[in-house]
Amino acid sequence: MADIDEMKSEWLARVDGAGDLAALEQERVAALGKQGAVTGLLKTLGGMSPEQRQAEGPRIHGLREAVTEAIAARKRALEQAELERRLATERLDLSLPTDAGPRGSVHPVSQVMDELAEIFADLGFAVATGPEIEDDWRNFTALNIPETHPARAMHDTFYFAQAETPPPTSGRERATRMLLRTHTSPVQIRTMMDQEPPIRIIAPGRTYRSDSDATHTPMFHQIEGLVIDRGIHLGHLKWTLETFLKAYFERDDIVLRLRPSYFPFTEPSAEVDVGYHMEKGRRVLGGSEKWMELLGSGMVHPKVIANCGLDPDEWQGFAFGCGIDRLAMLKYGMDDLRAFFDGDIRWLRHYGFAALDVPTLSGGVGA
Ligand code: PHE
Repeated sequence: MADIDEMKSEWLARVDGAGDLAALEQERVAALGKQGAVTGLLKTLGGMSPEQRQAEGPRIHGLREAVTEAIAARKRALEQAELERRLATERLDLSLPTDAGPRGSVHPVSQVMDELAEIFADLGFAVATGPEIEDDWRNFTALNIPETHPARAMHDTFYFAQAETPPPTSGRERATRMLLRTHTSPVQIRTMMDQEPPIRIIAPGRTYRSDSDATHTPMFHQIEGLVIDRGIHLGHLKWTLETFLKAYFERDDIVLRLRPSYFPFTEPSAEVDVGYHMEKGRRVLGGSEKWMELLGSGMVHPKVIANCGLDPDEWQGFAFGCGIDRLAMLKYGMDDLRAFFDGDIRWLRHYGFAALDVPTLSGGVGA
């Protein structure tokens, strides 16, 4: 039958003529789809006599196969051409320098910790550390904060669940109860128990309290200072804090005010205020126009010294504790503490430091 041959060459030409995959799909539907021309021809087989079907069947099936194959071949050719076009146009020049540069930056808290270590190293202080998971005894009891002391309630402590369910009865059992340290002061205990005096250390690190608003986050950073030696008095404390804060804020006009206060582990205790003034709506440290509270300090309580196995008649000292995040906010002008720990890359790009901005006293601790 001549018309099948004709149909065949017509469809093969149409398939070959399809310029892209969408056009090819249209031809496939027109030939082989439910309403397609070739499908229509196949349907006529049912109405033929057996002899006719024997003669026509192979030819019609042959037509369908030829068209199917032609479509597959055309599809491969079109896909290959598309791939070659993309390979030719989407070129990656590996010899080009990347335009991104380093993406990371040093977090202001890390930067300030390095600045503090630099300043205190110059004053002869070593850096001490302690674990963030601390025991009740070092976080409280040894610091003269007994079981029933109201200061415990003020610390909003995160305690770990006890391994044993029955509540501890004796003080000894309670001493092993674990918690997230609420301040860096347990490092005082660790250092006094591990080292022979004289001791001069700072201990920067993470601390935890169940508290959250614009100026409090459940995790925050403190720096502890501890000096234990013979003949230490409040004058040493005041000089050390003044020298430290002048170096940190890079201003000679820093004025401190020591206010009587209370901490169970220091006696006497002093809250330290620093003078500031307003410049263009921003707080600038220096002078004594207005005062803001900056840190807690005092002479180490004789009981604490004795708890660590030292003789308080021989050894005295001072200690202080200060929020590092606060120090960073004051120096670098951030106003919301929560943004410190959101991990927002835009904030880090704005406030972060380049990896090579290592603070040095000669180069400036402000980097
Ligand atoms: N640990 C105290 C606090 O977190 C601060 C402090 C440290 C006070 C050392 C005095 C001496 O509030």
